[in-house]
Amino acid sequence: MLDQGKNPHFDHLVALGKGEINRAIFSDPDIYQRELKQIFAKCWLFLGHMSQLPKENDFIATYMGEDPVIVTRQPGGKIGAFLNMCRHRGNRVCRADSGNQRTFSCPFHGWTYGNNGELKVVPGHRQVYHEELDMEAHGLIAVARIDDYKGMIFATFDKNAPALDEYLGDMAWYLDMALDRREGGIEFLAGVHKWRIKCNWKFPVDNFAGDSYHGPVSHGSAWESGFEGMPRRKKGYGYEGFQINAGNGHGFGARWAENEEQVYEMALPEFLDYEKERFPETRARLGDLRGMHLSPMHCSIFPNFSMLWQSGNMRVWHPRGVGETEGWSWCFVDQKASPEHRDLVRIHDLQRHGTLGTWEQDDVDNWVQSTMSSRGYVGRQVLQNLSMGINHEIEDPKSIHPDMRGRVAGFQNEINQRSLYGQWARMMEGDGPAVPGANA
Ligand code: FES
Ligand SMILES: [Fe+2]
Repeated sequence: MLDQGKNPHFDHLVALGKGEINRAIFSDPDIYQRELKQIFAKCWLFLGHMSQLPKENDFIATYMGEDPVIVTRQPGGKIGAFLNMCRHRGNRVCRADSGNQRTFSCPFHGWTYGNNGELKVVPGHRQVYHEELDMEAHGLIAVARIDDYKGMIFATFDKNAPALDEYLGDMAWYLDMALDRREGGIEFLAGVHKWRIKCNWKFPVDNFAGDSYHGPVSHGSAWESGFEGMPRRKKGYGYEGFQINAGNGHGFGARWAENEEQVYEMALPEFLDYEKERFPETRARLGDLRGMHLSPMHCSIFPNFSMLWQSGNMRVWHPRGVGETEGWSWCFVDQKASPEHRDLVRIHDLQRHGTLGTWEQDDVDNWVQSTMSSRGYVGRQVLQNLSMGINHEIEDPKSIHPDMRGRVAGFQNEINQRSLYGQWARMMEGDGPAVPGANA
């Protein structure tokens, strides 16, 4: 069981031993404000992929929690990330989603910053500031740490955060099943889908971390419509596969293939040719467990990154107040994928997981309704249930395969949700972040 009793102030909200959580965590504005401080200003957050910044001076704009940031590739190739906030009156210095810029000039009064964050130009520095403004002390606020795992860029605002490798833990090893299954890794296709959802940010994260239980019900009609390919393997409950808890709140779900033939049975029909092309290389690179037996389906990396393997989809859930979330979604492909396969993945991803995608609409409605029911006073008094499979985790994961890592349970088991909310409680309880530049 996860650390019962270590979070005295948050235990009343998250009782992991019983698999119950208090639904105030989805609707209480004070709890939300504490999340911005304790979770979004402290955790490593996903910013983007290296393939979005291929050239010197390329940049992308994104968010860390509700804080806007610019991610830049500086001359020489170094990647940096800075609060997208002018040090004068706090205006945004960059309004574009992406582009190529050496400098960012604030549209309010014209303070201009280099893409390494340095304040370079202050209009009237001599005449009105009498050269007394300390330019060096007024650069853009940089993140405390930035790093990448095989091209996936993460950053944190907390100087005391653990190293990225340590933070990702076993999840990095499982992420290789996307990032490293072919030589050259992956790249993001151009563009981001963005949409607002009237739900608390934790609902989608929970869903992607480990809710394989909802598929047959929530997405039943999408399958039955015949509009999209249905893998030929069994559907229903209790089928083969695992929820894998990779530590630090990260959850991952994969189905189990006994042999190569079953890998192909799990593939979407339109991707079958490509699956046959890439399988031998993946198996040679990653070995039997990651290269064949585990057919990866979904994951969430704490706090707000999620991924769907089958559709080539990665996304981030940006919080926008306690009752609203902004989804940002990208489509990714192996660098080695042919133009025809890229097109197939892109179209499939749009059809299923675009803003009007068949599956996306099913999911969003569930998260909205669950958020709304946590707003009423009476409904909020009733605990949410996460007890599925609570005493039925697999005691010795190595008995499944000697390479298996993390805590493991059957494919339909709420182990990953319990771990997610356990990590949530630990972060909410801990020390505040050490934010660089704060009150300097
Ligand atoms: S707010 Fe940016 S220059 Fe004044
Ligand atoms: Fe879903």
